[in-house]
Amino acid sequence: MAFIVAKTDDIAPGQMAAYDIDGEPVAIANVEGRFFAFSNVCTHRACPLYDGLLEGTNLTCSCHGSQFDITTGAVVTGPASMAIKTFVVETVGDELRVQKAGELPAKAETEDELTPIKRILAKVPLFSGLSEESLEALQGFTFRRTFEPHELIVEEGRTANGLYVILSGRVEVIKGLTGSRPQLLATLEPNEPFGELALLGEWKRSASVRAMQETECLGIDRWVFLTFLEREPQIAIKMLQLLAERLAETDERLLERS
Ligand code: FES
Repeated sequence: MAFIVAKTDDIAPGQMAAYDIDGEPVAIANVEGRFFAFSNVCTHRACPLYDGLLEGTNLTCSCHGSQFDITTGAVVTGPASMAIKTFVVETVGDELRVQKAGELPAKAETEDELTPIKRILAKVPLFSGLSEESLEALQGFTFRRTFEPHELIVEEGRTANGLYVILSGRVEVIKGLTGSRPQLLATLEPNEPFGELALLGEWKRSASVRAMQETECLGIDRWVFLTFLEREPQIAIKMLQLLAERLAETDERLLERS
């Protein structure tokens, strides 16, 4: 069951806020526009976590300095030895909805939900050939977000944060959206990814991507992905191949124009 707990504007980037969700203390953090929800109780000696120090996705408890990775809840540094609980956060329009794990009906249904994600990731060219174990690990770094019809998912000229894969709905890729002659470059359907190169660096998006209808995407943020890359160096080789292909395409286009 999802609980609508706040508006996206309620929590500024780099900030956290505390909520009581159905009797459970939950903190939500805004990390450069991505929201993460986790238990507001430190597993060391139960201090509240929302007033700790947030650096990227690393949270330091203000009481005795335990550090947690808020994307997974894992302990980074003690004295705490137990992970904190994390919750799925969905952004629907300007609403933040938190899915309480304890409210999920049953284990079988949770697995039903997770298995297709692994399958979807395997279809992304960048991740094809990854072992099931690696896909399992990668799945833990993803988030889901729903966009309203006509909502901008990616804005041309803005710095990109990561990769999206369409789960449902449809998007259009448009060059020069705000100019006098916008050009439709492509429409993308479920299972199609966009923004792979944004996983590598803070480059500006070359086109805008806009939802044509209500569209749910699976996302991976760059800073989270880079952590994964350290564990899975073969992905870095694939990324080099992808870069080489993109460079070759650009060369070809330039030659055609000359
Ligand atoms: S209560 Fe958080 S580190 Fe001790």
